Amino acid sequence: MIIAGLLLASTALIASAQSSCGYQNANSTCGPSAPCCSEFGSCGTSPLHCGGFCQSQFSAKVGGNIPCYGSKFGKKCTSGLYNFDSKTWVINADAYNGDSATADFVIDPLGLDNGNARFGANGGILASITAQPQNWVLQDSSNPDSWPAALGVRISSTSWMLYGRFGARFKTPGAGGIITAFISFSEERDEIDWEMTGRDSKVVDPNYFYRGVSGGVFAQGDGVKIALPFETNSQFTNFDVDWTKDSISWIVNGETKQQLLRTDTCDSAGQNCKFPSTPSKIQFALWDGGAGAPGTRSWAGGYIPWSKTSFSTGFNATIKSISIQCDGDAAPKGPPTRPAGYGAPSLMEPVINVAVEGLTGYDAKAMTRKKSIYA
Ligand SMILES: *[C@@H]1O[C@H](CO)[C@@H](O)[C@H](O)[C@H]1NC(C)=O
Ligand SMILES: *[C@@H]1O[C@H](CO)[C@@H](O)[C@H](O)[C@H]1NC(C)=O
Repeated sequence: MIIAGLLLASTALIASAQSSCGYQNANSTCGPSAPCCSEFGSCGTSPLHCGGFCQSQFSAKVGGNIPCYGSKFGKKCTSGLYNFDSKTWVINADAYNGDSATADFVIDPLGLDNGNARFGANGGILASITAQPQNWVLQDSSNPDSWPAALGVRISSTSWMLYGRFGARFKTPGAGGIITAFISFSEERDEIDWEMTGRDSKVVDPNYFYRGVSGGVFAQGDGVKIALPFETNSQFTNFDVDWTKDSISWIVNGETKQQLLRTDTCDSAGQNCKFPSTPSKIQFALWDGGAGAPGTRSWAGGYIPWSKTSFSTGFNATIKSISIQCDGDAAPKGPPTRPAGYGAPSLMEPVINVAVEGLTGYDAKAMTRKKSIYA
């Protein structure tokens, strides 16, 4: 559910301004003046087009080279607990030049420039989405469809994981219409998801996608729902995914809540398995599901109640930490060389005081994982 509704919304918004491309647009290819085909299907030259999951097969060659760099370069899977303190390097996508040695995570505005994420005064990253200022005056509460749409914000690892355990400790914003997603995402569009909607803060949705198609084993549409005895917007919670070549487990505060076996995804002869199996980045995202198609909107809990909040503050998800534990090496797809023509990255200001609420417990829990299957 995550990216599908979002893509529809973002593609429609972008298409009018610039040429479109990619799998979303009948596999069309960009021209040389705006050579990079973004993951959202728009052509351009900015780091938001050429970085991230730039679609290299639909981008134009410049000087004999495909100018995409975000999906080609990256670190080998690197185990660590990232507390978003001064040791974690987070960089804005518009300053990222593809050199993964300069960043652990990249923040981008999910297609349009109306989301932002920054370090919080008490530690952790605040990912916030706000409505677009230029549209705010157009709001007409009697016609929710005219409400401004804010797509969202995303934080992606620069290292690639192929099997391992990834986890995050965070609090959701808990407002209707907002989707909080903690996922793995590959260039081939394999995806393993934790998703939380503002519709019900005591319910969380595990899901997976194989090559861009929602997992057939879990129910379509509404998917699997897991009821929790607490609200994810009122307390920090540890959400983990344990991903091996044979199974995926979705874990809440150390307790396995859902499992998928690779064999569940195969045909009756045990062939053609549709199990996520490509190197993936770990991503945390907040996006506006209320601006999506009607099905996405109802799943998300309706329109974001922009009129009930102070426009300037938006909604926050607070991430205390992300943990990455690798099984083996998901090698990067190319050497982490710095493409010509991009300046030096500027790091975001690190946090001075990092809140440690729950981190000790989390640390212990996350790090007592079974041994790597490759060890
Ligand atoms: C785009 O390319 C993919 C992969 O080659 C193919 O499966 C798909 O049918 C193509 N789509 C269109 C609309 O041509
Ligand atoms: C979100 O976080 C920012 C920065 O700390 C704060 O100013 C704002 O009030 C928060 N918004 C909400 C709705 O809590």
